[in-house]
Amino acid sequence: MTSIGPVNALYPMPATLVGANVNGKPNFLAVAHVGILNHGTPQYLSIGLAKIHYTNKGILENKSFSICLPSEDLMVETDYCGIMTGKKTDKAALFDVFYGDLKTAPMIRQCPVSMELKLHDVLDFKTHDIFIGELAETYADDGVLTDGAVDMAKLRPLLFDRSFRDRGNACL
Ligand SMILES: Cc1cc2nc3c(=O)[nH]c(=O)nc-3n(C[C@H](O)[C@H](O)[C@H](O)COP(=O)(O)O)c2cc1C
Repeated sequence: MTSIGPVNALYPMPATLVGANVNGKPNFLAVAHVGILNHGTPQYLSIGLAKIHYTNKGILENKSFSICLPSEDLMVETDYCGIMTGKKTDKAALFDVFYGDLKTAPMIRQCPVSMELKLHDVLDFKTHDIFIGELAETYADDGVLTDGAVDMAKLRPLLFDRSFRDRGNACL
């Protein structure tokens, strides 16, 4: 057995599109650092967002956000949402946006699965805000369901793996 240092060995992670209304308008960014905090009901999920991102302000303003799962068909759009900032670009224009029960968490009709979450807590890390959300509702296309459950083989998620980049200690 070889010690390789404090390396996060959990990659790959599914790339998601996180949505929030910022200044009254929907914005989306790509997020791979999503955590499952428990199982059961209520269910809590976390997202780790660098403090410089535009979306953080909107999550705090509305106390809600979404986590949408793009399929591989949305690779270009997901990449775009992961390199452009809503400070300068209307990224929501790429999508057909809809709202669910919470009314303030924008979701993407082109994503086969979207979850809306109520903000539960924020952990104030030095470089990142860790937003913890309580899952309020999940919306799924029938085409990605098997026996009523989301079937990842049908969804064909995009996977994100930065383990090679981490050798240079880069920080998202
Ligand atoms: C595949 C992918 C995954 C990403 N995951 C994260 C992440 O987990 N946390 C984060 O803070 N930024 C992540 N980013 C970077 C943000 O999506 C990116 O900086 C975005 O432009 C911020 O948008 P905003 O300023 O409109 O909020 C990721 C980018 C890509 C392409």
